[in-house]
Amino acid sequence: MAGVFITFEGGDGSGKTTQIRLLQKWLSDNGHTVVVTREPGGTDLGNELRDIILHSTGFIAPRAEALLYAADRSHHIHTLVRPALERGDVVVQDRYFDSSVAYQGAGRVLDATEVRELSLWATERLMPHLTILLDVPADVAKARQLGDERRFDRLEAEAQDFHERVRESYLALAEAEPDRFLVLDGTVSVESIHEAITTRVSDVVG
Ligand code: TMP
Repeated sequence: MAGVFITFEGGDGSGKTTQIRLLQKWLSDNGHTVVVTREPGGTDLGNELRDIILHSTGFIAPRAEALLYAADRSHHIHTLVRPALERGDVVVQDRYFDSSVAYQGAGRVLDATEVRELSLWATERLMPHLTILLDVPADVAKARQLGDERRFDRLEAEAQDFHERVRESYLALAEAEPDRFLVLDGTVSVESIHEAITTRVSDVVG
């Protein structure tokens, strides 16, 4: 495939949105065609699923939750991401299957290998070229979100130990695949994080 697939990962409140916006501008300024997208969401069906997953008020069984994320992912990769990569675009995506491994695996305590396999089946094993993990302690992330003045979604509203497990899982995933992951301290300045990201991305986009 001609394009480049970059994913962003991290806990809620880790600063992904800001960094994705800055990277999008940097890539465009450097002459690349960029597609910015996210999971859950990114397609019409995905946005309907996002609404169910994040804002449904009733209980959703952990395996059902994992399947809903996988359904969103499957449709998103098939209809939007693969076509963009085939055109040669740079796809910058907010969350991918590592989110499922961390949140549904470590957070909901499902089997991490099974959760990963479910996503890989759903996406016909599409792997990112680079995954940028913004690492922020759960209490720092929570304090940032409290400053945001908005309603917490189902996952964000989970207890502190859930978010600590998610963080530990992300760090373990990055350690297991050091070539794919770039781990950055998400508590330092926005500018220095952006600089570290563009340094690495320049190697990947060529
Ligand atoms: P967002 O707010 O970063 O868009 O993500 C929505 C929430 O969904 C966030 O709390 C993380 C969670 N999530 C999962 O639990 N599993 C997944 O596979 C994905 C993509 C997100």
